[in-house]
Formats: sequence, structure tokens, C-alpha cells
Amino acid sequence: MSMVRSNEDRERVRDASDIVRVVGEHLTLKAKGREWTGLCPFHDDHRPSMNVVPGKQIFHCFVCGAGGDVFSFIQKYHKMEFREALEYLAERAGITLSKADREQGTGDKADVTRSDLVRANAAAAEYFRALLRHPEHGRAGREVIGRRAINPAMVEQFGLGVAAARWDGLMLTAAKAGLPVHHLAAAGLVKSREDGGHYDAFRNRLMFPIHDEAGRVIAFGARKIDEADEPKYLNSAETPIFEKRSTLYGLRQASRAIQADRTAIITEGYTDTIACHQAGITNAVATLGTALTLGHAARLRRYCDTVVLLFDGDDAGQRAADRAVEVFIRENLDVKIATLAGFTDAKDPDELLRRDGGVDVLRRAIAGASDLLAYRYQRLRAAVGTGAGPAAITRIVQEELERLVQIGLNELTPLRRRLILRQVAAVAGIDEASIASMVPAGRSAARTAPATPPRTGRSRDETALGILLLSPALWESNAEIAAAILDASHPDAAVQRIASVAAGAVAEHGSCSLAGVLLALGDDTDTKAEAVALTEHVARTLETDELRARALAEMRAGLPGDTALTPNDRLRALRTRDRDQGGNRRVMPRPVPAG
Ligand code: UTP
Ligand code: MN
Repeated sequence: MSMVRSNEDRERVRDASDIVRVVGEHLTLKAKGREWTGLCPFHDDHRPSMNVVPGKQIFHCFVCGAGGDVFSFIQKYHKMEFREALEYLAERAGITLSKADREQGTGDKADVTRSDLVRANAAAAEYFRALLRHPEHGRAGREVIGRRAINPAMVEQFGLGVAAARWDGLMLTAAKAGLPVHHLAAAGLVKSREDGGHYDAFRNRLMFPIHDEAGRVIAFGARKIDEADEPKYLNSAETPIFEKRSTLYGLRQASRAIQADRTAIITEGYTDTIACHQAGITNAVATLGTALTLGHAARLRRYCDTVVLLFDGDDAGQRAADRAVEVFIRENLDVKIATLAGFTDAKDPDELLRRDGGVDVLRRAIAGASDLLAYRYQRLRAAVGTGAGPAAITRIVQEELERLVQIGLNELTPLRRRLILRQVAAVAGIDEASIASMVPAGRSAARTAPATPPRTGRSRDETALGILLLSPALWESNAEIAAAILDASHPDAAVQRIASVAAGAVAEHGSCSLAGVLLALGDDTDTKAEAVALTEHVARTLETDELRARALAEMRAGLPGDTALTPNDRLRALRTRDRDQGGNRRVMPRPVPAG
């Protein structure tokens, strides 16, 4: 009976949750023919490898192999159990689930599930919010909010609340609601006394709920109300649903604006973030008292290409710039640094925005943000500018290059590495080639060697096929090559199968993407793996659509010039020639350098 029920629930929720919409709420998708593509959130993706296929209601990443339906996407993305994902999607779709016969916990701490933690935090948030409206118990909190000029819309949007100045407020409320105290304890909302009893962890504090991207409360920031209390801010302890260093305050509220602007503003504090939103700068978030980490960056990169770190003073900026370089290098994120110090004497954005015209000053400060490397190289630039000798400049540049290599410069794609070196060259006033020759070798060999070496070398046919599957827009302009490959018989059985599947799709739609091939191949996992390997190889060796188009053009130009031959014959002739030249057949056409 309950089995049937939960299957019905599952189907109802699935029907109400279009995968393109749901995935699109988590990362930016672009339409590509009948499918949608975006940066895969499940691996360190630098080009859109994730395909979402509305017709089949599935997603698939052709690089890391992640894939599945809308439930698996939510489970994987938010690290949820199935039941949590079901509840999340049901709530999103406004569906009430039939009562699940959830097993009762035994009171053991190890039994506390992620859903239990979510429920405990939700109940606490509700209690803190209610208390803020309480005539007596909410007064002090309301006064702080009033003094700080946080408007009612922000109080609502950020779910602000207040914790009472007593030891058992949450305890009593939770008991009435039938919430087990060990769930509250596991969520860090209450603490244990020696005698086995418990007391509220947050007392007499303004409560800032911290949401995850799914909008669930996962923790709290709590600011003192009584100036005599310490510390100024308390955070919830870390739990399986709250990892401080990768959490961004306000991301839930800011994610749409971040996607729309392709830029996130990262402030230093809770109140700065709220003040920014109130002033209409709705792409603002805050780290929780830590520097920008790779965890933050990985999260943000799904939404934007640029982050602006907004600092109160120059010192904090310089320190953060140093640490942010790693983020910049490892994640494909452009990082900029803005500091208030040069624009105002206000100590932080919150204070500035309470002044007349403050928002204009803040917008100017943000617009004046320096590129991370430029900011970092102020010292270098100053040295160059004040006529430091060549030896001194060389030493500074050398040190910087060593640091960049340590962080992973040599593991970057050639294109990105070149862009960074170009920047160093510009700042140092040294030509690019010299800079490139100064880069120490290191790290790259160990880091870039994959665990299992991929098949090295690909035939022209295979490369061309890989290119077309990866950049389906190229089918049309390369009809002759396409026709030749699809007609040909391929020595490798898997490649043969891929080509024939692609031929079917091309006959029908005029082009074929990797996702199309993967779908058509059904559960032929070996061939699917080969298709993925083929395109991965192309993605690695020919990074952009432009390079791929050029590679195809080179192949076309390399055809024997006998015009009496049809395009197909010419390509076959080329293949024969390659085969006759032995090993050459498996040699990749060399990518033409850009520019
Ligand atoms: P600030 O001391 O600059 O506070 O700390 P603030 O955000 O301007 O707060 P108000 O305006 O005085 O109320 C910046 C951030 O550092 C973290 C918090 O995340 C805070 O928002 N912090 C600060 C702590 O975690 N604990 C502290 O004791 C102080
Ligand atoms: Mn402040």
C-alpha cells in the first residue's frame, strides 16, 4: 500500500518537474538545437559539457559521465537523499505528498538524518521569526533592525528573526512541536548540560538564517544585541548540511541576479549583503567570515564568470587578493577586487548605503574594481614605473611566476595559461615570449598525466567525427567531410557504430550532437564510452569551436587536389594515402594557434 503511494508521489512529482526548468534553476543553460547545455556542476568543467534533453527528461555530462533524471540531478547537486529530493521537488511544484511512513528514530545521534537537520533548522527559523513579531520578546531585535534601517521587505526576504534572552525558548517551542531534542542538538541549536539536559545555543541575538541554494535553512548567523556580549557574531556549528567554508550567505536570494549579470559581488558581512540587496544591488553575497575558497568559487562558477570581491580597506584587499589568485587559476572565474577605502570614509558597505547618495558611491567603487592580477601586481608595476633595474624586475617577475606555477599555472589549458602570461607580460613591460621562457617547469607533468592514459592519437576520420559531435553547428559547413566519414567503413567497431548512429541522426535532422549519439546508443555502454572518449580527445586538443572549424578546414585543404574526384572519393583517397604512410594515419592534425 505505502509502496504504491510512494510510487504515485514519485510520478506526480516527476510529471510536475520539467528537467530543463529544474536544472535551469541551478545553472545557466543555453539552447542548442532541441537540447540544452551548460557547465557541468559535477566536475571541474570549463566548457559546457552537460546536456539536458527535454524529450527524454534526462541530463548527461559527456565528460564526467554524470547523468540521470530530475531526481538524481537534485540528489547529486544538493547531496540529498532520495526522500529529500522528492520533498524538495514536491514543495517546488506545490504538491502535497501522501504521508510517508517514515521510520521513527531511536534517539541515537547517529540516527539524525539530513532531513531531520533541515526540519530542526526550519522549525528554529520559524520560531525566531515569530519571536521578532512578539510585542515584548521581539522589541530589542526590532530596535536593532530599525537602527540599521533594514526595511520590512528585507526582513521578510532574508527571514530575519530574534533569539530570546533566555535559556529554554527554543527548547520549549520544539518540545511543543514534537521535535526531538537530539535533532536540535545535532543541528547545533541547543547544547547539552553536564546533567544531560539541554539549553538554547543562541540567546538574545538577531538571527540571520543561512539558506542553501534550494532555499532550506541550513544554519544561522547570530549577532549580539547587547553590546556587552561576546562574540559579536556566532555561527551554527558545522553539520552534514552546513559546511562553513563553501557556503555563501545570500546566494539563494542573489542567484537569479548573479546569473543575469554573470557577476557576483562578494561582501564581507551579513549586514553588508542585506544592505546591498535593499539598495538594489541584488547580486551580492557574503562569505561567512572566511576568504574566498575553491568551494565558493565552484559554486559561483555555475552562475557567473566574474566575481567582484568588495573589501572595506586596502589591507584586507591585498591579503585576499593573494589567496584569491589560486581561485582564479583553478576555477575558470575572473576575479576583481574593489575597495571602499579610495571612495569613502564609511567603514563598510552597510554604513555607506545608509548615507545619502551612498549607493552611487558604492556602484562607482564596484565599477572601479581592478582585475585581480593587476591589483596583485601593483607592487610590480610600481617597481617598473619607478625605474627599477632590469635585475630587480626580473627577480620580481621570476618570483611571481614561481608562485603561479606552484598554484597550478602549468596545469591550465594552453589558452588560459597564455592569457595569464600575457597579463604578467603587460604589467612587467616584458614581451610575452620572454615571460613564457621564464616560467619554471613543475607540477604539470604529475598533475596532467591522467590515471589511465587515453588512447593516444586519433585518425583523421575519428577526429573529424569527434569535432562534429562536439560542435554540431559545424556539420552544415562541412558537409563533404561529414558525408565521407559517415559513408566510410571504420576499422574500429565502436567508431563504426557511432558513425552509423550519427548518419541516421544527420539524415533526419541535418546534424548530430554527442548527446544524440549517446541517446541513440541506449545501453551500449562500451560504444558510449568510446563516443565520450572521442569527443573528450577533441575537447582537450582543440579547445574552441573556432579551432575545430580550422582543423576541419585543414583536413579539407589537405585533400588531394584532383577535381575530377567527388568529395567522397577525395576523402577516401586521403585516407588511403594516410594508411600508406603508416603511422601517420593516427596523427592528429595540428591545431592552428589562435590569432
Ligand atoms: P564585521 O565585524 O565587519 O561585522 O564582520 P559586520 O558585518 O559589519 O556587522 P555589523 O555591521 O557590525 O553588525 C564581518 C563578518 O565577519 C564575520 C561575520 O560573518 C560578519 O558578517 N564575523 C565577525 C564572525 O563570524 N564573528 C565575529 O565575531 C565577527
Ligand atoms: Mn557593518
